[in-house]
Amino acid sequence: MDLTGKVGLVTGAAQGIGRAFTEALLRHGAKVALVDLNKSIGDACKKALDEEFDAARSLFIACDVGSEEELKCAFKKTVDLFGSLDIVCNNAGINNENNWEKTININLTSVIRGTYLALEYMSRENGGKGGVIVNMASLSGLFPSAHGPVYTATKHGVVGFTRSIAATSKILDYGVRINTICPAFVATPLLDSVNSEQIMGKYYVFKDAVQKLIEHYGILEPSLIVQGLMKILQDEELNGAVMKITKSKGIHFELYETTLKQPEVK
Ligand SMILES: NC(=O)c1ccc[n+]([C@@H]2O[C@H](COP(=O)([O-])OP(=O)(O)OC[C@H]3O[C@@H](n4cnc5c(N)ncnc54)[C@H](O)[C@@H]3O)[C@@H](O)[C@H]2O)c1
Repeated sequence: MDLTGKVGLVTGAAQGIGRAFTEALLRHGAKVALVDLNKSIGDACKKALDEEFDAARSLFIACDVGSEEELKCAFKKTVDLFGSLDIVCNNAGINNENNWEKTININLTSVIRGTYLALEYMSRENGGKGGVIVNMASLSGLFPSAHGPVYTATKHGVVGFTRSIAATSKILDYGVRINTICPAFVATPLLDSVNSEQIMGKYYVFKDAVQKLIEHYGILEPSLIVQGLMKILQDEELNGAVMKITKSKGIHFELYETTLKQPEVK
């Protein structure tokens, strides 16, 4: 996909991986809506980007992805301003075992809603011209983690949902490729959450053990996750892929032993 002139929407775009995604899309000539809950970081991010890229190519939208109304509004604003939608990164996520219902809402429900909204605009079924959706999971979407059962459940949910809706898209010819990225630890503010008793609740006892895990597996730079995103955007064959990114193996894919037969639609 040539990104010049394409329109992207990135959630959780004000910092961390989302910000790195946004910068990369802008660098490749796309227009980007930065959707984020945090207005002060979002405004600062937009200001910094405007010093490097044409200000008219980006838009910051203050939005809680956990709110159906606000997320719908963010998609509409993006399309109203830029005229189309080609790439959606459902990236916003939190790690909060104490308020685990919120974690489910932000990490899973919002990713599902963001995917459905993206399909409303991009699917050929609705007169759209196709596109790419990237849902952010984590290695926690593939393995158990004693220190974060609900975070882990949400990320397993993102992997299962993405693989399934990607199959739907293929069978019903939506023209939209839908993939997921599962990174190991990444150098962003999210990593600090494991040091907060208020956030981790009873799993705070794992604080030191998690630090040891981080030291053992190493910390990835957001730029490597950007390389993963670019591979997904460029490789037209990728749909329903589960991309893993680790320090030891770099960018690679989860290979599933069996592919269950999917229903056929005449
Ligand atoms: N950092 C890691 O080690 C790591 C590893 C694997 C996967 N991930 C996943 O990558 C994604 C991005 O994480 P990150 O590390 O960049 O985190 P981060 O905390 O650095 O950034 C997350 C961004 O999302 C925004 N956000 C949070 N709740 C929101 C909401 N309700 N509505 C809109 N925006 C909201 C925050 O304001 C922030 O700007 C998450 O889904 C996370 O689970 C992170």
